[in-house]
Amino acid sequence: MHTAPDQFNGGTRAVVPQILRRRHRGTAPIYRFKIARQSGLSDSALVLLTLQKRRSKLIREKETRMQTTTAPAFRKTAETFAAGAKTLEQKYFISSEIFAQEQEKIFSKKWVLVGHQSQVAKPGDYFVQEVAGESLIALRDKDGRVRSFYNVCRHRGTRLREGRNGHLSAIQCPYHAWTYGLDGRLIGAPHMDDVEGFDKADYSLHAVNLALWEGFIFVNLADGCLLEKVFAPLSGRFSHCYLPKLRSAKRIEYDVRANWKLIFENYSECYHCPGVHPALSKLTPYDSAENDLCEGPFLGGFMRIAKGNSLTMTGNSCALPVGDIKGEGHNRVFYYSIFPNMLLSMHPDYVMVHQLWPKSPERTLIFCDWFFHPEAFDRTDFHPDDAIEFWDMTNRQDWHVCELSQQGIASRAYRPGPYSPRESIPAAWDREYLRHVE
Ligand code: FES
Ligand SMILES: [Fe+2]
Repeated sequence: MHTAPDQFNGGTRAVVPQILRRRHRGTAPIYRFKIARQSGLSDSALVLLTLQKRRSKLIREKETRMQTTTAPAFRKTAETFAAGAKTLEQKYFISSEIFAQEQEKIFSKKWVLVGHQSQVAKPGDYFVQEVAGESLIALRDKDGRVRSFYNVCRHRGTRLREGRNGHLSAIQCPYHAWTYGLDGRLIGAPHMDDVEGFDKADYSLHAVNLALWEGFIFVNLADGCLLEKVFAPLSGRFSHCYLPKLRSAKRIEYDVRANWKLIFENYSECYHCPGVHPALSKLTPYDSAENDLCEGPFLGGFMRIAKGNSLTMTGNSCALPVGDIKGEGHNRVFYYSIFPNMLLSMHPDYVMVHQLWPKSPERTLIFCDWFFHPEAFDRTDFHPDDAIEFWDMTNRQDWHVCELSQQGIASRAYRPGPYSPRESIPAAWDREYLRHVE
């Protein structure tokens, strides 16, 4: 795309005296004509020269514009505030009908996070996760491929795996011992050969759409668009961080008495930080957020680490860097919400991931994992608890205010309240949510 203009310029250089190009680069076209005439060029060569120069200038301007738009542009939180934005109406936090709609229109149709590939490191490793009321098995098959199936036997529908995770060489139903390979094919069905026309090939487990993004496992209960297409806005954005290679050192599960949207809204602003998180506010200024994703299903940006090297109890780094982190990247924490159930927080030395599972309008299960560089685990300078303790404390502070919000929103006195300019991202998250349910 950029070769044609260069060739064009090369042609120009061949007919224009070197001294003219160097001395008169900044002069106006008519004046350049006069000077050039004195240099003995013909009128047609002069017209060609002017047109070529104009075209080169336009191309340079276009290239500059392209560079500006492709490089991540970070904007202060208040700059992207849509004036007049208010919190959601009460029904979105308490209505069972709306909860059912969310399960149908969002959690049954979108790509949802269920785990990380490190949870199924070896063939036969599996875990079970409920998505939109459906129990799913995610596993790594013998060829190393990560797959997902409905946790439903093809004989009489029995739940195949009750445990939450483990290791399997095949999936055997606890009822009549129908047995499935890790690729989902039915490989054993006692006495079924006696049934006329029975063909095991017709009774494989029902597969679920599964795709990996940066090592994270996503499933989609609908036959919809490709994950790569949906996640295109994030493409290459986090390549400085070795997300696919990381391993979780710890998972904590929180049972929060608040609507799942309150968790997203809370995550998306630090207006609450000075009062709710005194320790966090000492390390990271609450007004330091700058966002490069300000509208749509992916929202967020970074906040500065102003004191210490990381967000830990001691303020010290607690592990090897999680990626190829350069310059000011050492002083930044990147926070992104990924619709509809992932919160991705990338610190210089660890990555924290929240998985949200709405259980009812007023209850949300949250899995929080702390991921580290795989080589960090065996080193003497590995202190994961320094990070885990810090965020466990901060998480609980957040869940507490979310629960208080839920209680107040359920009141007959609740009315949508005005967002402040420091809450531009939760307001954008609400807009995205409404696009899916309305
Ligand atoms: S229900 Fe699974 S083998 Fe019968
Ligand atoms: Fe918070």
